[in-house]
Amino acid sequence: MQFSTTQTPVVDLASSCIVVSIDDKGKLSSAAESIDQVAEQYLTDIFDSGDFSGKTGETLLLIKVPGITAQRLILVGSGKTADGISAKNYIKVADAAAGAIKKSGALQAALFLHDIPVIDKDNAWKAEQAAIACENALYSFDQTKSKPEHEAEDYNDDIENILWAGPSEEQAALEKGQAIGRGISVAKDLGNMPANICTPSYLAEQAQALADETGLIETTIIDEVELEAMGAGAFVSVSKGSSESGKFIIMKYQGAADANEAPHMILGKGITFDTGGISLKPGAGMDEMKFDMCGAASVLGAMTSLTELKPKINIIGMITTAENMPAGNASKPGDVVTTLSGKTVEILNTDAEGRLVLCDALTYAIDNLKPASIVDIATLTGACMMALGTVNSGLFTEDESLATQLQQAALDSHDKVWRLPLEDDYQEQLDSNFADIANIGGRLAGSTTAACFLARFTAGQSWAHLDIAGTAWHSGGKNKGSTGRPVSLLVNYLLNK
Ligand code: BES
Ligand code: MN
Ligand code: ZN
Repeated sequence: MQFSTTQTPVVDLASSCIVVSIDDKGKLSSAAESIDQVAEQYLTDIFDSGDFSGKTGETLLLIKVPGITAQRLILVGSGKTADGISAKNYIKVADAAAGAIKKSGALQAALFLHDIPVIDKDNAWKAEQAAIACENALYSFDQTKSKPEHEAEDYNDDIENILWAGPSEEQAALEKGQAIGRGISVAKDLGNMPANICTPSYLAEQAQALADETGLIETTIIDEVELEAMGAGAFVSVSKGSSESGKFIIMKYQGAADANEAPHMILGKGITFDTGGISLKPGAGMDEMKFDMCGAASVLGAMTSLTELKPKINIIGMITTAENMPAGNASKPGDVVTTLSGKTVEILNTDAEGRLVLCDALTYAIDNLKPASIVDIATLTGACMMALGTVNSGLFTEDESLATQLQQAALDSHDKVWRLPLEDDYQEQLDSNFADIANIGGRLAGSTTAACFLARFTAGQSWAHLDIAGTAWHSGGKNKGSTGRPVSLLVNYLLNK
């Protein structure tokens, strides 16, 4: 898909499809108004007839509209526009418009969606969101069907050209949106891929493929044998019950002129399947634990976007990946292991494995990669999902500057976060009779105690933790599948550095 800007008046544009908006009071956007004038009030009549209500995201496809050059016109409802619409509703409008273009089969389309007022957002933001929406509309996952839809001869999953009505300065916003959209698709593909295919080795292969394709990333893969020799006992305690070899995957991107400038790091939890281990999870819905690598997927997705956008900073994407399986040689509740940091951990629940694979990765990163900052991303606790639902990812940090940066990126991307406490007062919940620290902290404040566990391994380091348990995938039903979150948040956060 190619994105470009256009300043051609809407009535003269020879695109195969044009999109304009009307609000729920029948108020025509400026582009819709121009069409209405040459089309003898055709659009006003449609609204007055009640065939189009202007509700947020409603669409109507019209052909051969009198007076305009384009073959098709899509009306999209913009809802209540009097005081400006919310960012959320604008995204809904853009998604609906992109979905309608795809459904129409048009290979080119022109979006006149710059003229919808959005609270606190400028036109570059609108262009970016429109580009993300177009990428999202084309996304489908059918790689594991015997007859993939996208391989059928008559299948059209392409929109070749998108024109955005706006000045050429908005081209950069379109390209940013496109890069983020592609990163989101990468993350979705990895999340949706079943765990018999998407193993730790598969993730390593994807990282290597990104490095080979772009020439902009240097990868280092550390396998389980090396990790064991290194003393990463917490990581190995999770991975050893699986016949798949766990790994650390390190992707270095150098954008700063100075190769030695300290990198900003994103670190993803990549449990490619979480059975719970010997503390086995209940069977119902367990298939969704293939999504327990969505933190890792968001790192690969964000690195994909960043290699397109080429920011002038050094970035490291790291993944800690393993399969959490019950087995004769798996860890047992009560086992005590020695982490890479030297601290010992009593594993009271083998299902609290995310923090075990993360703590050694954090220690490794801090000691060997000397990052300026670390943000880890993990589907870490069901408790976070209970607290924040599917709207916000949980944000935990004691670094105020990092908190502000991530909150700002969340506002910019509408990939939302909500800050939850990470205070020493909760640390005592992790006290153990037999080791330096227990891996669970009881029923109360479960997402905070998980973050507190990680905090024990990040003293003195600028670090934040994102719990994406509720936001990384749509659970159950027809909608089941990866959301690609928080790729947009991460890319915005790093681009703002
Ligand atoms: N991957 C899960 C967290 C999870 C569960 C995310 C359900 C999304 C949906 C994690 O490894 C886990 O099992 N956490 C336990 C921790 C508990 C044993 C302290 C949990 O949340 O139940
Ligand atoms: Mn678990
Ligand atoms: Zn898990």
